[in-house]
Amino acid sequence: MAFLKHSFLQTLSALLLVLMCCQVQTKQGEEEEEEEDVSITTLSDDSECPAECSCVAEGVVECSGVDLTQFPLKLSNRTKQLYLQNNMIEEIKVEHVSHLHQLETLNLQNNWLTIQGLEDEGFETLHQLNYLYLANNKLTLAPKVLPSSLISADFAANQLTKIYPYTFGQKPKLRSVYLHNNKLTDAGLPLQLFNGSNNLEILTMSSNLLRAVPMNLPSSLYRLHLKSNTLENIPAGAFDSLSNLRELYLQNNLLSNEGMDNETFSHLTSLECLDLSNNNLSVVPKGLPRNLVLLHLEKNSIRSIPGDALTSVKSLEYLLLQNNLLRSRSIHPAAFLGLKNLHTLHMYNNLLERVPKGLPRRAKTLMLLHNSISEIGRNDLAFLHTLTELNLSYNKLTSIKLHREAFRKLRVLETLDLSGNNLHTFPLGLPRSLQVLEMKNNHISSIPEGSLSGMTKLKKLVLSHNQLKLNSIYQGTADEERDDVAESQPGVCF
Ligand SMILES: *[C@@H]1O[C@H](CO)[C@@H](O)[C@H](O)[C@H]1NC(C)=O
Ligand SMILES: *[C@@H]1O[C@H](CO)[C@@H](O)[C@H](O)[C@H]1NC(C)=O
Ligand SMILES: *[C@@H]1O[C@H](CO)[C@@H](O)[C@H](O)[C@H]1NC(C)=O
Ligand SMILES: *[C@@H]1O[C@H](CO)[C@@H](O)[C@H](O)[C@H]1NC(C)=O
Ligand SMILES: *[C@@H]1O[C@H](CO)[C@@H](O)[C@H](O)[C@H]1NC(C)=O
Repeated sequence: MAFLKHSFLQTLSALLLVLMCCQVQTKQGEEEEEEEDVSITTLSDDSECPAECSCVAEGVVECSGVDLTQFPLKLSNRTKQLYLQNNMIEEIKVEHVSHLHQLETLNLQNNWLTIQGLEDEGFETLHQLNYLYLANNKLTLAPKVLPSSLISADFAANQLTKIYPYTFGQKPKLRSVYLHNNKLTDAGLPLQLFNGSNNLEILTMSSNLLRAVPMNLPSSLYRLHLKSNTLENIPAGAFDSLSNLRELYLQNNLLSNEGMDNETFSHLTSLECLDLSNNNLSVVPKGLPRNLVLLHLEKNSIRSIPGDALTSVKSLEYLLLQNNLLRSRSIHPAAFLGLKNLHTLHMYNNLLERVPKGLPRRAKTLMLLHNSISEIGRNDLAFLHTLTELNLSYNKLTSIKLHREAFRKLRVLETLDLSGNNLHTFPLGLPRSLQVLEMKNNHISSIPEGSLSGMTKLKKLVLSHNQLKLNSIYQGTADEERDDVAESQPGVCF
């Protein structure tokens, strides 16, 4: 139970981490909300309802998933919402739609539309169109002109190579544009993609073929997704006007420190989540915005953290630096100074030989596993008064080099993992607050008297894959287990 509870909490906090930054596409949710807006009023004149469809409410025509191969004919000119998703429609002609002056929502998601099947003037006549869903079709070019009434446009998962100045330009009501999973290159974008569209909040262009961040994006942007392109550099000033941006995804690109400068991010004063993971950075970039809460820098080739790169980021709570090439001495001792809100620091899978100096003083979770830490001195951990979880598994710790007082100040530590080291004896001076203690895969051959005394909160102790023999465990161990942890089992798990 205790173990389950713990791993449940771990999963939960991992989930929270993911959710914080990586809010899954909210598009789906938005659509649902929009569909709920449909006000059920009187039944429409069903003489005008196409045979395969249902027209349950005034102005609403519902024809989704009924194997249509053609755009339905004879739609009422009072149609406001037209649902045609999940069919096999290949073509839309001007005469199909030109009389739909009141159309507000057109959902054509998941059909077989190609650009040849989309007549240029088709959408121009739809002067009330707010919501246009064209995701999952076979479009290679965007329509040249979309109506200026547009609020949201979804072109995700097509094969778009080109967008025109009036596709998304001059749309004062436009709030969200989804263009992820297409084949857009820098040359396929107009100079000003959103000229005269100054209320855009959400733009997704992940999984395209962009090499540079698009310029002249509107300052209203709140969420910008550019992951999984081939971005090599961020042109100077590209983000300078984006003072409302809260979420910026740049992971899975080819960005290096040479492709940015010390002011690339510095004007993003509202930015809370920056994801630069899986790029080609060798140093933590300078000039990070001060309101950042979550910073992803994992899976780069980061070798050093300068003294002045992070200290201005006073709001930082999560710093993820795992899977890099950090050595202890290349982390400036003042690198984490003043980061009073930083509670989660991941530095696993690096090349650390020691616990880095000057770790954030308010840290709660410190993941240092899979490094080469061979020694922990008396004061290496002494200022981490708020630490609750310390994972030092799969390092090179030996019993001799693990100072017997190293843990003395960790008074609220609940979880300690020392598995996969070279410990020969059970460490002394472990915090009494411990609830979970893992030390599997060491060479521990004895548990000296008093090792576990006072650990009344211990719920889980893992000592499997060591060299313990029954008579090497002092008599008190079992009694302590029984007395202190009796009902909460699972006791010593060899
Ligand atoms: C809508 O269609 C009806 C015939 O079905 C016609 O009488 C009416 O004039 C049309 N309205 C508009 C605005 O086109
Ligand atoms: C942006 O729109 C304005 C009109 O609002 C126009 O004068 C200007 O040429 C456009 N710029 C670009 C780059 O399209
Ligand atoms: C960026 O670096 C330049 C020199 O390379 C310096 O003049 C400028 O003040 C720096 N900007 C910031 C915000 O640190
Ligand atoms: C990564 O950056 C280095 C310079 O820091 C450069 O030499 C190398 O070619 C880059 N690698 C890729 C895959 O872009
Ligand atoms: C330490 O981290 C590893 C890798 O995430 C994990 O499998 C292990 O359960 C952690 N230890 C504890 C005690 O949580």
